[in-house]
Amino acid sequence: MIELRELTMADPPALQRIYSGASLTYIERQTLSIDEAVDLVANTLACARAEPRDRWAFGIAAGDDLLGMVRLQCRTERQATISYLLREDSWGRGYATQAVAGMLRHAFAATGVTSISARHHPDNVASGRVLQKNKFIYRGTRDGWPSYGIHKPDRRGT
Ligand SMILES: CC(C)(COP(=O)(O)OP(=O)(O)OC[C@H]1O[C@@H](n2cnc3c(N)ncnc32)[C@H](O)[C@@H]1OP(=O)(O)O)[C@@H](O)C(=O)NCCC(=O)NCCS
Repeated sequence: MIELRELTMADPPALQRIYSGASLTYIERQTLSIDEAVDLVANTLACARAEPRDRWAFGIAAGDDLLGMVRLQCRTERQATISYLLREDSWGRGYATQAVAGMLRHAFAATGVTSISARHHPDNVASGRVLQKNKFIYRGTRDGWPSYGIHKPDRRGT
């Protein structure tokens, strides 16, 4: 069982372990130095204070162990993209699926976002499964990358 939480200034060493190794294979990120990890937390906390807020980044935690990150970034007032990353030793336990579900609940209940899109590297099958299991609809490929979208459910839950 995981929970989503805000980052804190105690998190940079854990973020360094998350942003490393096989977890970076399909994303446009390099291994983080400790200074970059500190900047990442500082930027995330600054974004949390921005008015209006246009991005949310939560840590994915199992108890005291920070395992990953899930992010929501607005492109317009109503449209956002979602992305997620887990430390390699925590893959395959359903955590990314739970984290995306948690971010969707947050986005649709606590922000003005009504439509969320995502895409993944064509070889990153696990990432596509995470989206499918969260009821994202496949929209075809963009620049060769499978793309998905989901809308805020209406009051009947559809
Ligand atoms: C992609 C990622 C987030 C998945 O995290 P996870 O916690 O292992 O995902 P879950 O356990 O919730 O679900 C993974 C699903 O993919 C499936 N899967 C995993 N590897 C797979 C593979 N090589 N081929 C097919 N399916 C695969 C799992 O079986 C599971 O589906 P199932 O429940 O139907 O069996 C994780 O691998 C990761 O952080 N990768 C690096 C960063 C990244 O690629 N982020 C996405 C950027 S778009």
